[in-house]
Amino acid sequence: MTDPNRRLSPVIRLAPAKLNLTLAVTGRRPDGYHELHSVMVPLRLSDRLSMAVSETAADSLFVQGDAGPKTDNLVLRAMAAVRSAVGRAWLGGSSGGLPPALAARLQKTIPLAAGLAGGSTDAAAAMEAALEAWGAELDADRRLTVAASLGSDVPFFLAGAAAVVEGRGERVTPLPSLRREAPGVLLVTPAIHVSTAEVFAAFAAGVRARDPGSTLLTSRHLAEEWRSGLDATRLFQRAGVLAPANDLLAATAAVAPTVVAARRALARLLGRPIGQSGSGPTCWVLYPSLADAVEAAGRVDGALDNGDLVLPGDGRPFVHATTIKPDGTGASGAQTVEPAQADSGSGDRSRTTIDQGGTSE
Ligand code: C5P
Repeated sequence: MTDPNRRLSPVIRLAPAKLNLTLAVTGRRPDGYHELHSVMVPLRLSDRLSMAVSETAADSLFVQGDAGPKTDNLVLRAMAAVRSAVGRAWLGGSSGGLPPALAARLQKTIPLAAGLAGGSTDAAAAMEAALEAWGAELDADRRLTVAASLGSDVPFFLAGAAAVVEGRGERVTPLPSLRREAPGVLLVTPAIHVSTAEVFAAFAAGVRARDPGSTLLTSRHLAEEWRSGLDATRLFQRAGVLAPANDLLAATAAVAPTVVAARRALARLLGRPIGQSGSGPTCWVLYPSLADAVEAAGRVDGALDNGDLVLPGDGRPFVHATTIKPDGTGASGAQTVEPAQADSGSGDRSRTTIDQGGTSE
């Protein structure tokens, strides 16, 4: 369990963004949260977290890139929550004390308040990194309890794979790997922050667009197809059915009306169905491969440059070509990597970024 040397070098983890390919909201719970059925996938687009045991009395976090105060809180809260869950059962200390303070460094690439669960994935990565830095264990049930206490999207990242997510977000059933090549995904996030709580509040107030149940049917059907073997091309062909299968679309449009025009403008430019991840405002566009997504990102960038595409927001949108993350690249969604491999894309909101090789255009 405990290798004292292990704690001398920092633990480095990639914390992937998530995408909702479907998002059915099936009811309201007594605790005010909503019941969901969603096919969620991890992306190669990731933040990078490094963590080491520190001599200081308190945990610390240094953030590089665009991270709001909420992200800071969530990472520090994750470290504190996992420490108290490990508690005095920690075998690394000779006197049976709590696990020691940690110094963390977070490189943000995933845009904030975007529907990509940037803060939640950092929290999941912080949980896993803290355990590894301490050489401590926590069984799967207790990990899940800590994760769910930090946020509804956090449990998904413990699975490290595409999954069906149900309940408030705590019921995560992993799906098998996709066949062959990883599907390409173009992300376009207008520079507007959308509050998830406000979008769910609008939904609860009755702002809905579709027949109740039709998104749930699509979501279950996708999960079934995925289980019986899906590849990038078939997923690409399903985009027209998946893009409207998000029950929060109307509520997001009520909270941030400009997202509707943004989606239409992208659809006109790319001639492809445009989906929304979670409560938005990130728009997703599926492609058979990363190369196709890169080509589409170039078209979006060119159209932004020459004024053919005008998207709402306070600044240039985040335009990013990536892929659905293949399985088998780590025991959890917060993948352990060597420092040299850890860069993927850039956090610069002013330029298109592409995963795999860290290329920027
Ligand atoms: O759990 P988390 O803090 O990420 O959720 C943010 C907000 O989104 C909650 O305060 C709640 O209003 C809403 N929410 C919900 N049902 C869910 C997840 C989130 O109503 N399943």
